Amino acid sequence: MANDTTSTKRLRGKVALVTGAGDPRSIGRGIAQALADEGAHVAINDVRADWLPEAVSDLEARDVRALAVPADVSDVAQVEAMFQAAVETFGRVDIVASNAGVIRWEHFLDVTPANLRLVVDVNLKGNVYVCRAAARQMIAQGEGGRIIITSSVQASMHFPITPIYGATKHAMFPFVGALALELGPHNITVNHIGPGWVRSALNDPAPGQQTDEDIEANRQSVPLKRDGLPYEMGRAVVYYASSDGDYVTGTYLRIDGGLGISKYSP
Ligand SMILES: NC(=O)c1ccc[n+]([C@@H]2O[C@H](COP(=O)([O-])OP(=O)(O)OC[C@H]3O[C@@H](n4cnc5c(N)ncnc54)[C@H](O)[C@@H]3O)[C@@H](O)[C@H]2O)c1
Repeated sequence: MANDTTSTKRLRGKVALVTGAGDPRSIGRGIAQALADEGAHVAINDVRADWLPEAVSDLEARDVRALAVPADVSDVAQVEAMFQAAVETFGRVDIVASNAGVIRWEHFLDVTPANLRLVVDVNLKGNVYVCRAAARQMIAQGEGGRIIITSSVQASMHFPITPIYGATKHAMFPFVGALALELGPHNITVNHIGPGWVRSALNDPAPGQQTDEDIEANRQSVPLKRDGLPYEMGRAVVYYASSDGDYVTGTYLRIDGGLGISKYSP
């Protein structure tokens, strides 16, 4: 990747694709905004096509080009068509934030076959399809690239009521490690970020957090005493996508206000 330290906007001229970014409150939107604010053009994906026109306007207002690429990331044909559309419009893809994910709050004994399939299909197979299409495109371009997966603090912490979700997130450790090894020779870096509590639709409401008091008690359990913001997750993606991340691959970055260490605090 070209050195970007001389430009005020560090990703000017780069092309990014962000999945699961339609909902204005989502982490994906925060990632897309942060990338656009650094000058990257953005292909913005969601399975909910009706959210994308507003998302495109949001990004264009940041002085970059934006393209809606609706697709279900768990459908390999749709993922490949999504990349094709992005390349037809922008000519290339330099940065991929594979962020789309779903959660189902169920005790292990209650997990339904439909929800088991959904969580594995989106969180595990979706990342496989998106990262493979990304890698193929970046290898064809021959100039390296950046792949950043959104996993979760659940990649490294254990929670009840989300056993399948947690398993798909923990799976990002061997997945990211293997991809970093295989794609390193192509100068493609692969890393994952672990958000803590971000009050998006995904966990609003979460079980045990039905009232304002419950939500505040949850915040107080986080060392920094607040929720994370989608844009803060986006800044971590900018770190990996910019020249700051040139020599960083196969890593995991928690952005969680210290949630991941809180159980062990004195
Ligand atoms: N919110 C949190 O506290 C939190 C914490 C840790 C990790 N995460 C992870 O961050 C990522 C984003 O979560 P969020 O909080 O923004 O969730 P969200 O539900 O608010 O947003 C997810 C977006 O992805 C879209 N989506 C769902 N299934 C899709 C599919 N099959 N194909 C394409 N798009 C799809 C949804 O329509 C939605 O716009 C997920 O991978 C999630 O597991 C979230």
